[in-house]
Amino acid sequence: MTIQAVRGTRDVLPEEVGAWHALEDAARRLFPRYGYREIRTPVFEETELFARGIGAETDIVAKEMYTFADRDGGSLTLRPEATAGIVRAVIEHNLMGTDPALKVYAVGPMFRRERPQKGRYRQFHQVDVEAFGYQSPTIDAETIELALAYLDACGVGQHELVLNSVGDRHCRPAYVQRLREALQEKAPSMCADCRRRAETNPLRVLDCKVPGDQAVIDALPRITDHLCPECAEHFAEVRRQLDLLGIPYRLSHRLVRGLDYYVRTTFEVTSDRLGSQSSVIGGGRYDGLVKDLGGPDAAGVGFAVGMERLALLVPSPGGRARCDVFLMPLAKAALDPALRLQRELRQAGLRAMLDPEGRSFKSRMKQADKLGARFVAIMGDDEIARGAWTVRDMARSEQQDVPEERVLDHLKEKANG
Ligand code: HAM
Repeated sequence: MTIQAVRGTRDVLPEEVGAWHALEDAARRLFPRYGYREIRTPVFEETELFARGIGAETDIVAKEMYTFADRDGGSLTLRPEATAGIVRAVIEHNLMGTDPALKVYAVGPMFRRERPQKGRYRQFHQVDVEAFGYQSPTIDAETIELALAYLDACGVGQHELVLNSVGDRHCRPAYVQRLREALQEKAPSMCADCRRRAETNPLRVLDCKVPGDQAVIDALPRITDHLCPECAEHFAEVRRQLDLLGIPYRLSHRLVRGLDYYVRTTFEVTSDRLGSQSSVIGGGRYDGLVKDLGGPDAAGVGFAVGMERLALLVPSPGGRARCDVFLMPLAKAALDPALRLQRELRQAGLRAMLDPEGRSFKSRMKQADKLGARFVAIMGDDEIARGAWTVRDMARSEQQDVPEERVLDHLKEKANG
């Protein structure tokens, strides 16, 4: 039996890597314009960080974490998302003490044991953005604008921004209580997940996708009707600023998100081209999380982009040429000059390759073609006698004789010209 990739994981093959680089490069170009710098945190953390940070009753913590016992008996977990680990690092290194306007982003793999399907993996990748210490609704709007600017920079066309406010510690508990009461009557007729959530985490009922439950859910009390004045004002200002920036959105009182740390603004960007896993970006405000995890009472706003889903939305860049100069030493005595020239070309920044297997001329030409070589440099017995290379311009189907001592400069000029 050959060993295969673990279910829910996937290889990014060389042909696809260019597309991934493009998405990562776009983040690295765009985010610094908004003041963000990169942070890199470990892929595993103490299990308790996620239990406390994301919420013990969430699906992620209750059902989806890759948790394992360390050899010394401690419990470790592969990160299911980036925010909790970043908050831990911010506290541990007192980053807010030295940078009152802390903005960081991260890129890397996350792990959730979900049921694999199109756009849903057990190891997936996120580009994650977090801003700390900003209470103003301006940063909510800016963060959302950044999320959309990133999609734009990646070339994603059609998508929808969905927006909600989930209130805060002042108004949400009373709302959740109302919801709980309303569900007492309704839950028995709903799906098993809803019945369980009605007890453990009533907000998550709003996330249910089971068709038969939708009418009931639509009739439940709405958080946006129960916001305290401060939350209502914050939400109104976020919307006003999005309007000002010309950013369209759809309000959805059901957008509660799958992580417990959110307060006030929550948002997602969805695309109907993704099928049932339609959310490409999810984010929101999480004031209180830094304090809950042992840090100062600091605000936080951020989002994460699912890279596999993003990759499904961008046109693939197609096969990129891999070679500038393909060297063809056709005579035995041509090998040494070819090896020297190959090294010099690479030192000059050009992509140079040769076929060390010494195949036939025809099959080497085919190889050069496949690699997308722009130039082929040939040296056989005739060329050795003349002290020259035959340099062929593949696009123009032209070739010329270039003396050995000129060939490096010639190819550099041609390739860069
Ligand atoms: P999330 O909504 O759980 O939020 O994930 C964000 C994005 O990651 C999703 O919209 C989706 O594109 C992608 N994603 C999630 N699970 C999977 C999966 N199993 N397979 C493929 N892609 C997936 C968070 O993770 C929050 N930490 C976002 C955040 C940052 N909020 C504030 N700061």
